[in-house]
Amino acid sequence: MEDTELIVQEATEEAERAEDSRALYEVKMKFLGRAGKVTALLKSMREIAAEARPAFGKKVNALREALEEKFAALEEKLRKEELERKLAGEEVDVTMPGRRHREGALHPVTRVKNRLIDLFSGMGFEVFEGPEIESEYYNFTALNTPADHPARDMQDTFYLTDRILLRTQTSAGQIRVMEKKKPPIKILSPGRVFRSDDDATHSPMFHQMEGLVVDRGITLCDLQGMLDEFARTMFSASSKTRLRPSYFPFTEPSVEVDVSCAACGGKGCPLCKGTGWIEVLGAGMVNRRVLENCGVDPDEYSGFAFGMGIERIAMLKYGINNIKLLTENDVRFLEQFKD
Ligand code: PHE
Repeated sequence: MEDTELIVQEATEEAERAEDSRALYEVKMKFLGRAGKVTALLKSMREIAAEARPAFGKKVNALREALEEKFAALEEKLRKEELERKLAGEEVDVTMPGRRHREGALHPVTRVKNRLIDLFSGMGFEVFEGPEIESEYYNFTALNTPADHPARDMQDTFYLTDRILLRTQTSAGQIRVMEKKKPPIKILSPGRVFRSDDDATHSPMFHQMEGLVVDRGITLCDLQGMLDEFARTMFSASSKTRLRPSYFPFTEPSVEVDVSCAACGGKGCPLCKGTGWIEVLGAGMVNRRVLENCGVDPDEYSGFAFGMGIERIAMLKYGINNIKLLTENDVRFLEQFKD
């Protein structure tokens, strides 16, 4: 019988030492669980003399109830403390400034490329993409530039093998298209090109946009009409174009196309070196020999082609003075282009 007093004392002490509800639960099991001390007392009833049993039973039950109450009270206290601690840890300071999300921006080369595709697809052009690794045939020979032709030196070429190279111009795609498709042809061919060339305005890898139109009765006027539209969309509503005689083996006649300087409106400034004009692309009427090389009859069909450097257009449009800025991908630079 003294045991019960001792058990209450022992259980109370241990329970009060419990630091959290988990530890308290363990103490509770030690006394009230199936293998607990109080449970053992109840089980020992059978060994007690029959007349002593009711008194013993009463005492043990009272002990169990007292302990259960004790544990319940302690448990509530601990759970409350735990909840408070948890809430304190999760407290949100609604006066703190929010996290800033930096807005991304498209790369200027992507912007110009998208604008060009938009513009020319509105005039009925389809996009064709040729391979970056080309054969000498598509990049030069079929474009009327045989091996001993001096124009091969105009473009410093990266050769992979004797006959395989990194294309120096998207013009290679002209041949691939004309070999497969009968006129009328109206394609736009964007892509990377490679030349062993490296300074503030030249990069060994850059992007070009090629255009090719072949049909009956195509003239240089059709070319200039489209280029005027291009200049007005890309630079300013009052932009004009000017054609200057030039030379490319795959066009005849060949022209260099200038756009009136958007910075000074054509009056002359440092950007246009005082001339009022800025050279933006090469173009011309597709050379008869190129048409013949692709099985297109030059007496029935004629065409024009143009090719422009996308980086160059982007630099002129956005006033970027060093081509290297376009490959560094510094977000502080890229973020500036939002329209
Ligand atoms: N392929 C020429 C270049 O890279 C540009 C061009 C394309 C010229 C089409 C005329 C016709 O310089």
